[in-house]
Parts: sequence; structure tokens; C-alpha cells
Amino acid sequence: MASSSDYIIEVRIDVLKTLKIFGITATALTAIGLGAYYIHHRMQSSRRVILQDEVKHVLEPFELSDEQLRRVMANLNTQMTNGLKSNDSENNDLAMFPTFVNFRPNGQESGEYLVVDLGGSNFRVSHVNIEGRNRLRLKNKIFLIPHSLLLGEGEKLFDYIAECLQRFIDDNGLATHKRADYKFDLAFTFSFPCTQTSLSQATLVSWTKGFSCTGVVGNDVVLLLQNAIDRRKTLQIQVVALVNDTVGTLMACSSLYRDCRVGVILGTGTNACYFENLDNVPKWAGERNQSTKQIVINTEWGALGKHGCLDFIRTKIDRELDESSLTPNQQIFEKMISGKTFYICKLVIFKRNLALYLGEIVRLIIIDLVRSSILFPDRMQKAPSRGRDYNIFLSLRGSFYAKHVADIECDKTEDLSVTASILTSIGIYDPSYDDCYIIREVCKTVSLRAAKLAAAVIAVVVNRVNMPSVTVGVDGTLFRHHARFRKNLIRTMSRLVPRTHRLVLSEDGSSKGSALVAAVNRHNQETLTST
Ligand code: GLC
Repeated sequence: MASSSDYIIEVRIDVLKTLKIFGITATALTAIGLGAYYIHHRMQSSRRVILQDEVKHVLEPFELSDEQLRRVMANLNTQMTNGLKSNDSENNDLAMFPTFVNFRPNGQESGEYLVVDLGGSNFRVSHVNIEGRNRLRLKNKIFLIPHSLLLGEGEKLFDYIAECLQRFIDDNGLATHKRADYKFDLAFTFSFPCTQTSLSQATLVSWTKGFSCTGVVGNDVVLLLQNAIDRRKTLQIQVVALVNDTVGTLMACSSLYRDCRVGVILGTGTNACYFENLDNVPKWAGERNQSTKQIVINTEWGALGKHGCLDFIRTKIDRELDESSLTPNQQIFEKMISGKTFYICKLVIFKRNLALYLGEIVRLIIIDLVRSSILFPDRMQKAPSRGRDYNIFLSLRGSFYAKHVADIECDKTEDLSVTASILTSIGIYDPSYDDCYIIREVCKTVSLRAAKLAAAVIAVVVNRVNMPSVTVGVDGTLFRHHARFRKNLIRTMSRLVPRTHRLVLSEDGSSKGSALVAAVNRHNQETLTST
């Protein structure tokens, strides 16, 4: 009979045996696993190398050297100088609009103001209380613009804005406890190219960014808004200033940073404004006196390239995108770098073909790669039903967003699962690792080019301002939300700008800054009437 100690020994032996077997098995399995992983990895990387050569060929034209960037800078500089000389749009790329803003907020502004901010797929109404010493309280509401209004009659668009203003005032009880004859001062942030003849007179030159309401181009937009407000008998509002979003951004930032002289937007569209010496603006027809030495110029740099000065870096994809856009041969530079990051409603965007340029560039490159059987080679042939899904994506303009570009280029997961799930969400089911890898390369390249180009143009303006240190106020979704884009932009600028500079993100800049413009304007009016 076995004693209990024998039993224990036997059990120990069994356990040891099991552990040994398990150990051997585990080692063997690990070895097999590692071997498989190694072989898989080798295959992946060797495939990657082959693919890289083919993909490189397609992406090469999007890679910009510093030498090319310097040529872009020189061309922009020339175009800026030409634009300051005359309004000859037949030959000049840039409008270089004088804005009638010739002051910087001094921190002592005060009062309450309304701001209507129109420039993208929605518009914003704000109530801004400026309380002196740079203290400012802001309440705002975003209103969606129905698609029909964007492409319909301008008068209806302005009536809708007035209706929303009424709703905003009522919902916030802004008119209660006011004198019967009280009139709100309203600043109109209008982010489209306008020729101004005073702070409150501005003729729309052309629509950009997918807008195309009738009856607005060639007309004074301040008057159109004022008329719509006046048609609603219950609204007591005076539109006192028209401000481009770049100017709003500049004003908001320069109230906080003493050396801020440049305002930039990198979003659905792109543009910049800056303080220029009046001596450098031969076309300025307004007053020139001792106190006015500088004026803010709205460059409208999105139009750079209209007469071919960017042809040396434009790719066949850029041309394709431009030709199929709502505005062929306009906003050439803008189409290379801007992109709307967030969208409100798929249908609205698809129908309107808004300025989704970065995403659209990526989509067109993907189509190119599919055509040359580099992307989705098996899927397009083997699974016709899936192929059909892919075709929907491939044929639907605007179906790849700038937000996708940002998320994919930042995908650091080992299996590129973020990229795979984004692709799946837009109809590209079960993409292979290689597909994801290539698409990430495409996104990185397109975004890097945009960041480099943005850096080059900002560098020109910073160099022109010619101060020992310059702060640039920046707003727009590309700068705000695309971490990699921002990093690349800052890195490139440090190579191109010899002087000290910094880029600061402007919070609600265009609304706050426009209210500040209205405040300075009121102060000036009051000083005039009291003297
Ligand atoms: C477009 C407009 C310009 C605006 C920019 C950013 O380029 O033409 O006025 O500043 O978009 O919104």
C-alpha cells in the first residue's frame, strides 16, 4: 500500500513532468510563434520596400524641398508688393485689401456688442461684453445654414441671419431692461474677399469655400445685412463694422500680445492679414496723416497661383481637384493646403462640395493608386460586391475628410487598426495591412506638404513685418486640431524665419476681435463728436 508520502512524491513527479512537458511545449510554441512572426515581419518589410518604391513614385511630386519653399516665398513676396500697388486683378494674384483697421486695441475698450460670424458651413452669433483691462465675456450660439440657402438667393440668406439674431436676443433676454431707443452695435465677421471703402462698407468680390448665393457678389454686404435686420421691425441693431476673420484673429491676439502683428486662418479656407506701413501701400486712397502710419492689409493669399506662379509645384492631382471644383482656377493655393476638419452633416457636405481639399487630395491619390493596382489589388478583383462599396467611396467627391487625414497620419498602432477602422467606416472594408500602410504614407505626405506651404507663406509675412520679434495669431481647425500639421508647420518655420517669432492659437478670436474693432470704432466716433 502506498504511504501518503509516496503519494505526495508521485504527485510531485507528475507535476514536474507536466511542467517539463509544458515547458518544452511552451518553448517550442514560442519558438514557432517567434519564427512565424519573424518570417511574417520579414515578408511585410520586404513587401513594404517594394511597395515603397511604387508609392514613392506617386508621392514624389508632393515632397517639397526648402529650395522650392523659398521660391514660393519669393513669388508670394512679389505678388504682395504688386497687390499693394494696384487693384489690377488681371495681373495680380493677391487682392491685398486695405481694411480700414489702423489701430490696435489698448485694453481700455468697453461696451456690449453683437457679432455675426459668417465664413463656413455654419454661422455664429455672439454677445460680447468688453469690460476694460482686456476683460471680455462672450456668449454665443452656432446656427446651421440650410443647404438651400447657401446656393439660393442672397436676400434669403441675410433674412435667415436676421431671424437667428432675433432668436439669440430673445433666448438670452438681451433686449430686456434696455431703453426703448437702444441700438446694439454689431460687427460682421465676414470671411470672404471684400473691397472696403470704409469700416462699414464692403463689396463682395467673389464667393469662396463653396458658397454661391445669388445677388451678393458686387454688392455691399453690410447693407444687405442691415436691410435684412431693418426688415424685422423688432430688431434694433446697427451694423458698424465688417471684419475679415483674419483681422478678428489679429485684433483678439494683439490685445494680449504686444508684438502681435499678423493674423492667420488655417481651416476651411486659408488667409492672413498683417500691419503694413502706409508708405508701402501706393494704392491706398484713404487719408494719410501723422497719426495713421500703418493699416491692416487682408492679403487673401488663398488666391496665390492664379497666374501660374505655383505651377512649378502643382501636381496633376492639384489640377484635377481644381478643375472639378465649384471655382476652377480660383484659390489655387487654398486648394493645396486647407481642409475642413469637422463636418456637421454628411449630406450637406456631399451635396455642397465644400472646401475639403486636403481630404480630397488624398482621395484622388488613392484613386490613382487603385488604378495602378497598388492599392486593394485582390479586393477589387476578387470580391465584386466589396468592389462596388469601394467604388462608391472612390467616386464620391468629398467623401474623405481632412479629419481622416489627421487621424490616419497619427496612427501609431502596430497593426494600423485606427487606419483600418477609419477606412472601414467609409466603405473600404477589411483593408489589408499594406493598404493601411500606404494610405498612412499618403496622408502623411499630403499633410506635410500643406504644413510646409503654410510655413512658407507665414514666414514671408513675418519677415515683412520686420520687427525683432513677432507673434502670429492663428485660428482654424487645421491648426487647432491637427497636432502633426502644427508640429511640421512650426518646425519648417524655424528654418525659414531668421527672427524670433511664435504662433499662438486664438480662442474665439474672430468674434472677440471683431467686437474689439466695433469698440475702438465707437470710441473714435465718440471722440470725434465730443471735439
Ligand atoms: C477664404 C476667404 C478669406 C478667409 C479665408 C479663411 O480664403 O476668401 O476671406 O479669410 O477663407 O476663412
